[in-house]
Parts: sequence; structure tokens; C-alpha cells
Amino acid sequence: ARVDKDGHKHFMAKEIAEQPVAIDRALKAYMDDDGQLSLPAELDFTKIERLTMVACGTAFYACMVAKYWFEQIARMPVEVDVASEFRYREPPVPEKTLALFVSQSGETADTLAALRYMEGKAQQIVGLVNVPESSIARESDVILPLHAGPEISVASTKAFTCQLSILLLLALRAAEQRGLPLPDGMPADLRALPGLIHQSLAAEKQITASARGLAEARDIIFLGRGQLYPLALEGALKLKELSYIHAEGYASGELKHGPIALIDEKVPVVVMAPRDALFDKTVSNMQEVMARGGKVILITDAEGAKIAGDGTHEVIVMPQVPDSLAPILYAVPAQQIAYYTAIAKGTDVDQPRNLAKSVTVE
Ligand code: AGP
Repeated sequence: ARVDKDGHKHFMAKEIAEQPVAIDRALKAYMDDDGQLSLPAELDFTKIERLTMVACGTAFYACMVAKYWFEQIARMPVEVDVASEFRYREPPVPEKTLALFVSQSGETADTLAALRYMEGKAQQIVGLVNVPESSIARESDVILPLHAGPEISVASTKAFTCQLSILLLLALRAAEQRGLPLPDGMPADLRALPGLIHQSLAAEKQITASARGLAEARDIIFLGRGQLYPLALEGALKLKELSYIHAEGYASGELKHGPIALIDEKVPVVVMAPRDALFDKTVSNMQEVMARGGKVILITDAEGAKIAGDGTHEVIVMPQVPDSLAPILYAVPAQQIAYYTAIAKGTDVDQPRNLAKSVTVE
């Protein structure tokens, strides 16, 4: 069926707004009504000693977040890499490795090549794809469809948050099968995620206003720690893709190992800091930025805003959520910052220069 913009100005705006529905659909595909996980029986994490996740771009950042989940929740050793590096590294593959390939299109050439490398070596190949009739789906032993619905805009949005939601379910499943206690309230609390994503969309108005300032910047830095570090990378990638403004994401703790030299009053710094165990550390990095004149946009929850909002240029307040849900929620302001900065600059949001939706050549 033909997909239209459904009253939105761009496909990207539509796809951002659709996330509560898309995530709800994705979760329902792998969870019963009573909140129990229901994943394909072939996925047996008791037989697996190591997980390798490979992808490109935004899908790779979803894998990076999932690494924290699989390590912390399921205590599994995890390797992640971008497909273009992985395929030529010729990595040795230990026995009992599960290889997981994440791709919206299912046609990304490097990811497919990495899958083929693992085909002869891994015990099992799992494809997390949005297009179920794609090459990656066809060549996987187990296919996990994303259920995000067609994603038309070149910038990936709802596919990313659906990837994260399903990867979190997988990490919970792995923990369950390995006899580990699940984090409080999980997996049942996941059912609140679509509503929380809906709430976080409300920051739109504020972000529209701050994007006008961001559009004037030459460089923008994104900072995050732990699970939010990959979100800093994702925020910077989205902004580069859409607004053509130079942006970099860093792990907050790396700041003093180089990037802090970039900071002056002309460089906006977006800090992603939910009130989790690493909050104080991120805030102390943020204060180092402010001491050098950096203009901080802090994305946090209400409690975080109360503690650390003073002296920042702006605070964007997200709902308070269990730790493992924060990276999914914070994807929304990252998308909106890129979208509205691009609008302020007048660039082609759905079809940014030099980019293709699906990268089918090396
Ligand atoms: C995201 O906004 C990008 N356009 C890009 O990084 C994309 O995620 C990457 O090319 C991977 O695509 P895939 O998910 O279709 O494999």
C-alpha cells in the first residue's frame, strides 16, 4: 500500500510521532497480554556463551545500547562492531556464539557481508529487521521482525526505538533463561513504554524554539555516559545527517582526554543525563563544560533538573523512568533536535544530501 505523510510536513515528523504506536506493536509481537515474554523457542540463551552484534549507523548504536543491557541484566559477554570493520577483521569466533544482525532495511551491504562471514562459524544467526522479505531476513536462522511499519525518511527514527525495545526484551529473556533476577518491575513495566514515549514527544515545542539557536552553531557536542553514551552518538549522527552541522558524540568521561579543548561559548553541548547511578559523574563533566563557557542543553528528568539545572542554558525534562528505559526515551529529543534544527536551516529533511535510505553498496 502507498504510504503517505498523514498530514505531517515530512515523513520524518510522521515517523517520530508514530513511535508510541510502533513500539506498542513491536512489544506486543514479543510479549503476552499478561506481560510475559514470548520469543521464538529456537532462541536459547542457556546454550550461548557470547553474543556478537553487528550493524551500521543508527542500527549500530542500538547494538551499543544493547551491549549494556546484555552485560548488566543477563551477565553475558558481548561484542559489538560496525559491519564495515567487522567483515574485514576476520575475527576468531568462539564456540557457542550467537550472531545478531540489526538492520532496518535488511539490505545493507556491509551488514549482509558480515552475516555471511558468520554463517559458517556461528551457532546461530539472528536477524532483527524491519523488512521481513529482505536479504538479511532470508539468510538468518531466526528472524525477529521489528514491526515498526514502513520507514520512508532517510533518517532512522521509529526503527531505532523499535530495535531498542526488542533488544531490551531479548536481554530480559536471556537473563530469565540464565536464571538471573530481572530488574524490578520488568518485563511488565515495559508495557508503559508507548505511553512514556508519547509523553516525551511533548518536549517538541521547547525543542523547536531552541533549535533556532542550534541552527546558528558551527559545531555541537553531545555527551552521555553508560547507556546514554550511544544516544549521544546517535544525537550527533542525526544532527549531522539532517542539518549538515558538525556534531560529535562523546562518552562524558572522555571529555578531559581531548574534546574539552573544543569548548567555548560558541559550542552548544547537549548533555543526556537521566537520574541514574552515573548522574553525578555526568553532571560533574557538564560543570567542567560550563566552567569553560560552554552552552549546555541538559536533557534529564524532573529530579535531575532540580539538582543540576542551575547555570545551564536550557533544560529539557523527560519523564522519570526505570534505568533501562531511559535510552529508548531519550532517542525522542535527539530526533527532535535534529529535525527542528534542519527545519530552521531549511535543509531537505527526508532526503538529505549525499545519503541513501538503504546502503546496498560498500
Ligand atoms: C540513520 O539515520 C541512517 N540513515 C543510517 O545510519 C542507517 O541507520 C544505516 O545505514 C543502517 O541502515 P539499516 O538499518 O537499513 O541497515
